[in-house]
Amino acid sequence: MAHGNSKEEKVVFVGDSRVKKRTTTIKQPDYTSFPGKSEAFIPNFLLKEWMVGCVALVAFLVLTISEAAPLGYPANPNNAAFVPIPDWYFLFLYQFLKYPYASGSYVVIGTVLVPGLAFGGLLLAPFLDTGKERRFYRRPIASSMMILTLIACVYLTRVAWVHYEAEMAEKNMIPEHVEREEKAREAAEKGEASNQPKPSKGIAIVEKDDPAFANMKKVGCLSCHAVDMKGAAGPALVGIGDKLSKDEILTVIKDGKGGMPSMVEAAKKEGLNDQDIEHIADWLSKQKAAKQ
Ligand code: HEC
Repeated sequence: MAHGNSKEEKVVFVGDSRVKKRTTTIKQPDYTSFPGKSEAFIPNFLLKEWMVGCVALVAFLVLTISEAAPLGYPANPNNAAFVPIPDWYFLFLYQFLKYPYASGSYVVIGTVLVPGLAFGGLLLAPFLDTGKERRFYRRPIASSMMILTLIACVYLTRVAWVHYEAEMAEKNMIPEHVEREEKAREAAEKGEASNQPKPSKGIAIVEKDDPAFANMKKVGCLSCHAVDMKGAAGPALVGIGDKLSKDEILTVIKDGKGGMPSMVEAAKKEGLNDQDIEHIADWLSKQKAAKQ
């Protein structure tokens, strides 16, 4: 601004010479006609806001501590029986992707196009919907789209859940939310902490470097008993030595038990011999809870 001007021109600098001096001043609104109904934003109003924020935060912290986050079965790519399911608020999208026109070769419709249109529409709503009218019944297009979306979400969520429960019943599996509730109830009856999903939590694997552990992984035991052996579709195996002897464990491996098939064939397929299998049983029988 100061460049190329004649020397006579008066240039007013306001700190930064690129900022023009303001000619009008910002007027504070006058609240004097509302005595007692106005307050300073800083610090009065801000302090109140912070106070409310603190209370909400503490309440939230207490909630997270008292009610441990409910976790589902650990995701496990080796377990074919595992039925993955998203959190409830994504169930509608999950269900949507099951429909033939939104999956397979049309998957772009389900993953990009429809969600993109919905979220893009939401982003652009302030620019598209510029009418002055705020009452919902005077804004038929915006309102009907909103209501339709809501109905679709509720419907898809419901269908997804019904489908999930049917799938679990078909596979003879107990949905983990039911299992968790039952365990919590049993624990409560025994007077233990209610939100302890697995009683074997604190028990560590004994002699983790033993080849038996690697063999169990290879044969697929851990797809049901979890890589930390704390149980998934099958029960926990940490601390199993306190409960079963080597021979009893060997019998379980050879004959199966309940939902567990005999594992001898699977083991042989992976190149294990009788001795290796026996060694697994031996190693499992050494899994005892550390004396405290
Ligand atoms: C298909 C899933 C599956 C696989 C694979 C599997 N198990 Fe199991 N296992 C189970 C289930 C389910 C039970 C519980 C059976 C019952 O008590 O009704 C179980 C029970 C056991 C038990 C007895 C636990 C107890 O508390 O009584 C042992 C020991 C065991 N499994 C070891 C193994 C070993 C070792 C392997 C690999 C060689 C293996 N399991 C592979 C599902 C599996």
